[in-house]
Amino acid sequence: MATTPLLSVRDLSVGFKTDDGLVKAVTGISFDVVPGETLAVVGESGSGKSVSAMAVMRLLPSYAQITGSIEFDGRDLLALSVAQMRKLQGNEIAMVFQDPMTALNPVFTIANQLVEGIRIHNPTVSKKAARDRAVDLLALVGIPEPRQRVDNYPHEFSGGMRQRAMIAMAIANEPKLLIADEPTTALDVTIQAQVLEVMKKAQEATGAAMMLITHDLGLVAGVADRVQVMYGGRLFETADTDTIFYRSRNPYTRGLMTSIPTAAARTDARLQPIPGAPPSAIRQPKGCVFRPRCPNAEDECFEEPDLLPLGETGEHQSRCHFAEALPELEINDPTERSA
Ligand SMILES: Nc1ncnc2c1ncn2[C@@H]1O[C@H](COP(=O)(O)OP(=O)(O)OP(=O)(O)O)[C@@H](O)[C@H]1O
Ligand SMILES: [Mg+2]
Repeated sequence: MATTPLLSVRDLSVGFKTDDGLVKAVTGISFDVVPGETLAVVGESGSGKSVSAMAVMRLLPSYAQITGSIEFDGRDLLALSVAQMRKLQGNEIAMVFQDPMTALNPVFTIANQLVEGIRIHNPTVSKKAARDRAVDLLALVGIPEPRQRVDNYPHEFSGGMRQRAMIAMAIANEPKLLIADEPTTALDVTIQAQVLEVMKKAQEATGAAMMLITHDLGLVAGVADRVQVMYGGRLFETADTDTIFYRSRNPYTRGLMTSIPTAAARTDARLQPIPGAPPSAIRQPKGCVFRPRCPNAEDECFEEPDLLPLGETGEHQSRCHFAEALPELEINDPTERSA
């Protein structure tokens, strides 16, 4: 896998001035995405996942205060003009949302929208060629009888089908980066797995890198190469997927694992929600933002820990004073269990 990052985010912070005070949505996050890889961004509601993604897409409202840097394919995204950025959006960087109706226009057929999406960025492509490509894309994302269904309106598709159509639109111009924000949350569990598979297939067909945002750590196991865990607008842990599941060195990640049915099944843990609620983004707790809910908290935790590398390569990073001292995770390999 290539190692020159496609996306390089450094010390990104995002604040929103509101009547109640400054909302600290994201605080000092740094991460890379390399070409072709899938990075999962996981955390509870309000942890700053969507705001980070919107910052990359430059879709935040104008009153957002953004500091730090976002470099994409050699360009400084925060320095691009609106017109330059519009050229990137939907072309080099594409987004898949939780609700397909935010991306699909109800008054146009799927064919109209796909053809338009293709021709906006490639005006030299004929209508006929764009329509053929639209049919191919629907086939790729698993829409049955794509040649007929392409002329349907969005409301004639089921929820899962609409999600597939939106994925088709997102990959229509072979983006280098696909950002999927809770792409399956609105779908029922069996359809979720199918849509994730479609995303994976779409990604492989186009060679795109993917940022998969979800609150469900259990969902990322078979899909992501790396995982980054967010809490209170900060990065709490980052590592390759196996390390997160089997060798996590962070109490928050461990809490997520035992609170999510699919992930709890992978460890010996019983299903247990993390007690308490995520912090207010305006009045954050002193020291480690997870301290008030953390089962491992000590006096040191009134001092905020840094996100520090562990082990030899430094690819595994954790924000916890006790990262090295935590007991080993007790893992029960699901394949052994059934044996
Ligand atoms: N436009 C805005 N104005 C003010 N505050 C905002 C705005 N957008 C987001 N926030 C706040 O920023 C914080 C991070 O929000 P964000 O949407 O990134 O969370 P998230 O991790 O995506 O959560 P979820 O899982 O619920 O989607 C939250 O406290 C949210 O209320
Ligand atoms: Mg969100």
